[in-house]
Amino acid sequence: MGVTFVLLAAGSGERLGAKKPKALLGVGGVPMFVYSLLQCNKVKFLSQILLVVPVGYEEEFRKVLIKYRIKNVDKIVAGGLRRVDSVYNAISAIEKSEVVFIHDAARPFVSSKLLKSLFNDVKKYSAVTPGVPVRSTLKSCRRGFVEKTLKRDGVYEIQTPQVFKIKLIKSALLNFKSKKVDFDILDDSNLVELMGKKVKISLGDSLNFKITYPDDLKLARLIVKSWK
Ligand code: C5P
Repeated sequence: MGVTFVLLAAGSGERLGAKKPKALLGVGGVPMFVYSLLQCNKVKFLSQILLVVPVGYEEEFRKVLIKYRIKNVDKIVAGGLRRVDSVYNAISAIEKSEVVFIHDAARPFVSSKLLKSLFNDVKKYSAVTPGVPVRSTLKSCRRGFVEKTLKRDGVYEIQTPQVFKIKLIKSALLNFKSKKVDFDILDDSNLVELMGKKVKISLGDSLNFKITYPDDLKLARLIVKSWK
């Protein structure tokens, strides 16, 4: 079975206040997108890896791959304005594959163990997303005051990589393009949900958090420090 891994690294890092793309920021001295590629090396089922980068940054990312002797990237693809546009560009660049993993480079601590368990699940289900049950109490708030306490049962925090049979994610993207959707699409399984299709939840890993704000970056750097 052809299996493609798409690593999305075309985000700007605006919320981090960074001057360069977030995926290039260092965690333990190594650009964060490198960590996911190293985990990909530990599994045997991937047939190709596509790295999606911001337009104009292709050379900079290529230099990092050379510096860290990363040889598993088959293609560098130019990203789009929104995350969903980057996904569309990547899916359009896949030639032969039955399955695709779509992962945020901003989640450097994905493990090969999680990749393996998701791969097992996608053989049975056409769309799979990792998630962890929420731990904190959730409340909706308005103008600085609590409105109400929300039920937490069955509520998951969703992660990547999300894994799909390629036919399904292609038709979900086309369906999305043909519709006027007035909200932000934040993850790819949402595209599948919009078609009324089922998405399987697979247990994720709390270390697989997304680096979004400066505190997340601080935490990621502390984690890598603790390995040494
Ligand atoms: O901005 P955020 O952290 O939610 O982005 C999640 C992932 O999607 C990141 O790895 C980022 O590089 C990627 N992304 C992308 N193209 C965009 C926006 C985000 O590849 N236009």
